[in-house]
Amino acid sequence: MTAQPAPVPQVAVVTGATGGMGRVIALELARSGMHVITVAREPRRADSLREQIEREVGTGRLDVVPGDLSRRDGVIDAAAAVLARWSAVHVLVNNAGAHFSEHRLSPDGVERHIAVDYLAAHGLTLLLREALERGRARVVNVVSDTVRDTRQVKLLGRPRPATISADQLSDLTRLNPADGFVPFHAYARAKLLTVMAGYDLGRTLQHQGVTVNAVHPGIAATNIVDDLVPPALRPFRGLIRRFLLTPEQGASAALRLAIDPALAGVTGRYFLRDVDTRTPPVSYDVDAQRQLRATSDRYFLPARPR
Ligand SMILES: NC(=O)c1ccc[n+]([C@@H]2O[C@H](COP(=O)([O-])OP(=O)(O)OC[C@H]3O[C@@H](n4cnc5c(N)ncnc54)[C@H](OP(=O)(O)O)[C@@H]3O)[C@@H](O)[C@H]2O)c1
Repeated sequence: MTAQPAPVPQVAVVTGATGGMGRVIALELARSGMHVITVAREPRRADSLREQIEREVGTGRLDVVPGDLSRRDGVIDAAAAVLARWSAVHVLVNNAGAHFSEHRLSPDGVERHIAVDYLAAHGLTLLLREALERGRARVVNVVSDTVRDTRQVKLLGRPRPATISADQLSDLTRLNPADGFVPFHAYARAKLLTVMAGYDLGRTLQHQGVTVNAVHPGIAATNIVDDLVPPALRPFRGLIRRFLLTPEQGASAALRLAIDPALAGVTGRYFLRDVDTRTPPVSYDVDAQRQLRATSDRYFLPARPR
C-alpha cells in the first residue's frame, strides 16, 4: 500500500494577533483546523498565543512572521515570507490597527494611521493576491464604525461620517495632514480608505473566487480602547472595560466572515458586527476608488521584486 501524502492545510494569515481580538481570531482559526500565520512587529509577543495553540490545538500550527506594518518594507517582507512557505492562502484577516494621539509620519513619509490602518491591509492583500486567488480566499478587513460616525460621544447630535477629499487621493502624503489633525478623525479616515479600497478589490477579485469584506467588531475591551480613554478617566479603565464586549465577543464578527459557510461568496460589504450596513457615499464613488487604488498600488508595486 502506498502512503498517502499529508493533506495540505488551509492557511490563514491574521495580522495583529499578539493581543486583543486578533489573538482570539488566530486561536479560533487554528481550532477550526487551519494553519495560522501572524505578522508581528515583536515576534516574542506572540509566544503566549503559540503556547496556547500548542496546548489546545496542536504543535506546528502557527508561524510568526516578523513585520512592522507601519513600514512599507515591513509589509513587503511579511508578504514575501508568507509566499516563501505557502503558495495558497485561504483566509486573510487584516486585523492589526492602531490609534495615535499625535501627528507623526511613518518612515515612508505617510501619516501613521494611513500606514497602519489602511496601507498595511491594502498592501498585504495586493502582495498576496496570487496566493489568495489560488486559495479562493476570504479577505476580512477589521475596520471601525467611526467610518460612519466620528463623534467620540454618541449621546448628542447627528452622526458625523468620516471625510475624504477626492483630490487628496492621488498623493498618500497629503492624507491626514498635520494642519487640523484630529486623532480620532485621522483613524476613521484611514479605516474609510480600507473600506473603499476593499470595495474596489472585491469587484476585481470576485472573478477569481476571492471575497473582500469589512467589519466593525463592536467596542471591545482591548489595548486600543484603553488608549482612547481620556487621561482623567484612566483610573476607571477597569470599570469601563466591564461595559464593553470581551475580545472573544468582538472577534466573533470577523470570524463569521472568515469561516461561516453561510457567508461564502458574499463580497464587497461592510458589516456592523453581523449587520450588512451602508458606509458614507464617498466610499461607493467608483472613480475615487480607482484613484485610491492606483495611488496605493504604486506605493507598493515598484518594490515588489525585492
Ligand atoms: N477594540 C475596539 O473596540 C475596536 C473597535 C473598532 C475597531 N477595532 C479594530 O479592531 C482591530 C483589532 O484591535 P484590538 O481592539 O484587538 O486592539 P489591540 O489589542 O490594540 O490589538 C492591535 C494589534 O495590532 C498590532 N499592531 C499595531 N501596530 C502594528 C504594527 N505597526 N505592526 C504590526 N502589528 C501592529 C498590535 O501588535 P503589538 O503587540 O505589536 O502592539 C496588536 O496585535 C484594529 O484594527 C482596531 O482598529 C477595535
